[in-house]
Amino acid sequence: MIRVRVQPPHVVSIEDLRRIAKRRLPRVVFDYIDGGADAELTLHANSRAFEDVTFRPRCAVATSTCDLRTTVLGTSLSMPLILAPVGSSRLFYPRGEEVAARAAGAAGIAYTLSTLSGCGLEDVAAAAKGPVWYQLYLIGGRDCALAAIERARAAGYSALVVTIDTPVAGQRERDLRNGVKELLTRKFGQMLPFVTQFLAKPRWLASFVADGGLMKFPNVVIPGEGAMPYADVGAALEQSMVSWQDLRWIRDAWNLPIVVKGVHTGDDARRTVDAGANALVVSNHGGRQLDGVAPTLRMLPEVLASVGDRIEVLIDGGIRRGSDIVKALCIGARAVLVGRAYAYGLGAAGGEGVARAIEILCTDLIRTLKLLGCASLAELDRSFISIPPNWLASIRQVRAKRASRVGRSLPRLLESTLKPKRDGI
Ligand SMILES: Cc1cc2nc3c(=O)[nH]c(=O)nc-3n(C[C@H](O)[C@H](O)[C@H](O)COP(=O)(O)O)c2cc1C
Repeated sequence: MIRVRVQPPHVVSIEDLRRIAKRRLPRVVFDYIDGGADAELTLHANSRAFEDVTFRPRCAVATSTCDLRTTVLGTSLSMPLILAPVGSSRLFYPRGEEVAARAAGAAGIAYTLSTLSGCGLEDVAAAAKGPVWYQLYLIGGRDCALAAIERARAAGYSALVVTIDTPVAGQRERDLRNGVKELLTRKFGQMLPFVTQFLAKPRWLASFVADGGLMKFPNVVIPGEGAMPYADVGAALEQSMVSWQDLRWIRDAWNLPIVVKGVHTGDDARRTVDAGANALVVSNHGGRQLDGVAPTLRMLPEVLASVGDRIEVLIDGGIRRGSDIVKALCIGARAVLVGRAYAYGLGAAGGEGVARAIEILCTDLIRTLKLLGCASLAELDRSFISIPPNWLASIRQVRAKRASRVGRSLPRLLESTLKPKRDGI
């Protein structure tokens, strides 16, 4: 395999990794990573929202060292960064999930394995040599999910990430145009108009064939049938959406930390706390599901106002620079997840690309802290940034709602405490 150069001057930003991934991957694979739902409004808004938050540095402050270490769900991480679940990573690079998990472990951060992965969860945990989380879809039904939960526990996964924003797959127009449906029919006549995109990338094609061709989903084992073959998972997701009721039995089945991913509003954040989760991710699936929802950074203040410190609050969506991470932490997130930032790296150059993506974000992070005059993550707060005033309007609404709930329940509480019980006790 030809080595792609990922050090400067070839790669200095995540955008450079994106450009190389676009060159190396067939169009259908690159667009699967890069694209979003419908008109891609939320996809672009996620990144743009970081531009609306500006820094207020403290100058002439000496910060010779910067402490990036943090703890998420009791696990110590070298920096406040986690690799998000990215399905089908094995299509981007041979044994893609193992390769990405190994790079995360080497950097001292956590890797999240998607249910819809091409590598077995045991192999990924063994490759990572660091903290791993397992992202759960209920595809294949509860028995199938329970078997995966058991395997994840035995393999040492330390948290279960339950994604709640996929009652149906979003409509990704690029996938439709690139012939994903036709290619998955496996019928030569229907596939034919779309196969030239693979022939145009012979190096990718050779490595894909050497890696065994089209992957299966080894972590979705259908009782009596075995690993689920690769498929357009839209219908399967629709049949297996996660509801708040499901969260209850998942809570019973998994006694380690649970992370609910896909929280968009303060109301759902509160339900997440009520469901017994230990962390939540403010996430709109990287703009791949409901197009037109607000960017995640904008919703972060509302979510934090709603749940306070009753749960660890994480965020993803649109993060491409270390300064984006700092802005999210200043608002109050404990850590961030990134999806495309490392997926571009994986598509561009495998493990070296993922490692380079992590390195870019880490060095950005240190530089930004120093430029802000801040020696450690613990010191970051809202005094280091300016937030558009209209973002704070939703916080006032949350507070007003909370006050009226307390106002309504207080008289009832007093009444039930003071009222004599019917049997006189
Ligand atoms: C190619 C791709 C596949 C994804 N697959 C999954 C998945 O299987 N499960 C899931 O919960 N989220 C999935 N996501 C969403 C990510 O976990 C994450 O929420 C999103 O990528 C964050 O936005 P960003 O890409 O701008 O960082 C996927 C994202 C991408 C780009």
